[in-house]
Amino acid sequence: TPDSWVKRNAELIRLTGKHPFNCEAPLTSLYNAGFLTPAHLHFVRNHGAVPHVLKDVADNWKIRIHGLVKEEVALSITDLRRLFTVVTLPVTLVCAGNRRKEQNVVRKSLGFNWGSAGVSTALWTGVYLADVLSYVGADRRRAKHVIFEGGDSLPNGPYGTSERYSWASSKEKGMLIAWAMNGLPLEPDHGFPVRIIIPGQIGGRSVKWLKSIEVSVSESQHHLHYFDNRILPIQLSPEQARAEKQWWYDSRYLINELNVNSAIAKPAHGEELRVISLDAIYELRGYAYSGGGRRITRVEVSLDDGRTWKLSEIVYPEDSYRDIVHSDDTYGVLDLTERDTCFCWCFWSFNVPVQDLTEASCLTLRAMDESGNMQPRDMYTNATSMINNWWFRVAIVKCK
Ligand code: MTE
Repeated sequence: TPDSWVKRNAELIRLTGKHPFNCEAPLTSLYNAGFLTPAHLHFVRNHGAVPHVLKDVADNWKIRIHGLVKEEVALSITDLRRLFTVVTLPVTLVCAGNRRKEQNVVRKSLGFNWGSAGVSTALWTGVYLADVLSYVGADRRRAKHVIFEGGDSLPNGPYGTSERYSWASSKEKGMLIAWAMNGLPLEPDHGFPVRIIIPGQIGGRSVKWLKSIEVSVSESQHHLHYFDNRILPIQLSPEQARAEKQWWYDSRYLINELNVNSAIAKPAHGEELRVISLDAIYELRGYAYSGGGRRITRVEVSLDDGRTWKLSEIVYPEDSYRDIVHSDDTYGVLDLTERDTCFCWCFWSFNVPVQDLTEASCLTLRAMDESGNMQPRDMYTNATSMINNWWFRVAIVKCK
């Protein structure tokens, strides 16, 4: 394959055959790795071949910044480091396809089967896009969108998409032009040498192998800006969605912010639990996240398929970063002291007597965020099956 030069972790589960490379870690490994996902367990979503960027090319890699700006510039990573404050933020990236497999079982959609590990968290280091936009003198009155383009060549042109200017120009939203992940240069699969990171939004807008940033009155015209990352109306079958292209151009169906979601990591689907004592306590565990910077406020577990619910404990490791101000050459400034947004996943746990587990047929999970958004009981089955967030379930099957 064109990517045979890329080193990859054999433990990752390939979701689209040999090429392009799309993968997630086994959920148990992802969960056990903790708050920060090491690069070798981070999910990967590539639409085509990974650009083979050698070190000297990376050193001279320039991002063209143009469009509605006072001065068009081409900046290298060295320029970015020199001109702007280098910052690090912990950010959870989520592919909009996370948990699609559950929908595909009910009705095959246009997308491939993501399990529930299409989500990962890392410390991303770079500069605020907002600082760069103000440096180039972006025209605040006319600008409506900021368009990003990657260096990968796909059958219908490079990967590209856009973000609203109001987000891109706001430091609070935390959008980064990033060159490092967990303190190390980006891996080829994650966008080496440089990419966009957009906290709180679907991963599809965080363009990798970043070549161009354009300030514009209109949104991106890139093929995959239209034919990806949308939730089409439910009445459209996947076949109709493929044939009747006009649906994809309607901006109502574009997805930006992530929605509230959660999953059970322990026990895993199909895991065998040996009951030694009915009096013992079993600890259920998993993750939850929401979008747009919203905090998860509740995670609830049901042992009777949603008739009654019990509150789980939530831990927000992101909060431990709010108390520290760290600064060095690798990370730049890591300072969340003035930030109250939540850009990362949290972890929940719930202690259940083994006796109760043996009497239940299903573990059901749902989360709520600070705006009261709650995971729905039912799926929203639609042609793309994106941001699927219905209640998460693990079936309990009794063995003899
Ligand atoms: N950027 C480029 N240039 N090409 C791509 O195929 N995939 C997008 C986004 N950026 C993509 C891209 C999608 S759909 C997702 S979910 C994220 O990258 C995944 O980032 P990751 O592979 O680092 O996890």
